[in-house]
Amino acid sequence: MSEDDVVTRLPSRVDGILDALPDGLVVADGEGRIEFVNARAARLLDCPVEALVGRDVVDALPLLDGAGHSWWRCIDPWGGLATRTGHRERMLLVPGRGQLLVTMRYVRDQRLGPVTRVLVSLRDTDARRRAEAENAELISLVAHELRAPLASVKGFSTTLLRRWERFTDDQKHLMIETIEADADRLARLIHELLDVSRLDTSRLRLDRRRVDLRAAIRHGIDRLIASGLDAERFQVTVETPTGPEGDVVAWADADRLDQIVTNLLENAVRHGAGRVYVHLSPDPAGRQPAGAPFWAVAVCDEGEGVRPEHHSLVFGKFWHGSRRGSTGLGLYLVRGLVEAHGGVITVDRASTGGAEFRFTLPMAPEI
Ligand SMILES: Nc1ncnc2c1ncn2[C@@H]1O[C@H](COP(=O)(O)OP(=O)(O)O)[C@@H](O)[C@H]1O
Ligand SMILES: [Mg+2]
Repeated sequence: MSEDDVVTRLPSRVDGILDALPDGLVVADGEGRIEFVNARAARLLDCPVEALVGRDVVDALPLLDGAGHSWWRCIDPWGGLATRTGHRERMLLVPGRGQLLVTMRYVRDQRLGPVTRVLVSLRDTDARRRAEAENAELISLVAHELRAPLASVKGFSTTLLRRWERFTDDQKHLMIETIEADADRLARLIHELLDVSRLDTSRLRLDRRRVDLRAAIRHGIDRLIASGLDAERFQVTVETPTGPEGDVVAWADADRLDQIVTNLLENAVRHGAGRVYVHLSPDPAGRQPAGAPFWAVAVCDEGEGVRPEHHSLVFGKFWHGSRRGSTGLGLYLVRGLVEAHGGVITVDRASTGGAEFRFTLPMAPEI
């Protein structure tokens, strides 16, 4: 069956289906008079269906190309080449409505005969353009974030190469340390950006197993202690149905859990102050969908905390205070990772004075 047959045999009840189409559809006859307009097209053109049907499509649906010329005049569906079957997707301007993606299909009763119907499909591009604008903004943010450490690596290495003899060993050491720190920052940024892109495009794979939450937190703290922090700064408390020594087993990806814990502990140390308290407990039933049992982990510090007006911002991409070495991607990733596990993360003021970051993870099923 040819495309032409499909169109001429449309039973009237198909109107209902066509009205449910996500794209606008306008059908004009062999003289260019509008025969049919679906609900979406009427909405896109901001004009009731009754006011469109019967009108000349060239007047009722003015389409202008980038130069402001009438697209109808340019393509002339009824008088143009007899071999034309339509026009591919093209961005056109509808005066007063803005830009729409327009696709056309010509229907001929006989091969190479006159055009008896023109089908015009209209697609709203607002969502697409918004996504493009967000992408462009992200690219400019990324470029900006990469530029600062790169400029420092370049600046210090050039200075060292050109004026090596003029500096004392201590000065040289300091410069090379800065180069190393900025190179580390670049590497971290790129690593985190790759994770962000995996998260944003749903390519993040979780390898879920039974993981001991208490051990994961201990491990994160031990690493900070190994890097020179005082063990006295950390305090972990655990609450389980069978007491403080009970099992705390989550159903999670061990590496991703490690990333979540490390990020929150590092933040508490770097952005907070004083002691860091980690509290582990069953999440109150009913807070989670379908009442599934979850563990809750709260990481608190005694610093200045996060100002309430920033609570909704800290989990955003690139949101960070002006501190050196910040990427502002840590909490964005942490939230993405927690949510990928089905959990939630919130920030609040801790009873200890500083920030309290609290996240939930599903409990492992009983074996
Ligand atoms: N424990 C905390 N106390 C105070 N501010 C915090 C804390 N954790 C995070 N923040 C704020 O949130 C911002 C974003 O954190 P994050 O996404 O981990 O990025 P980064 O650590 O690279 O700055 C930080 O720059 C900081 O301003
Ligand atoms: Mg961080």
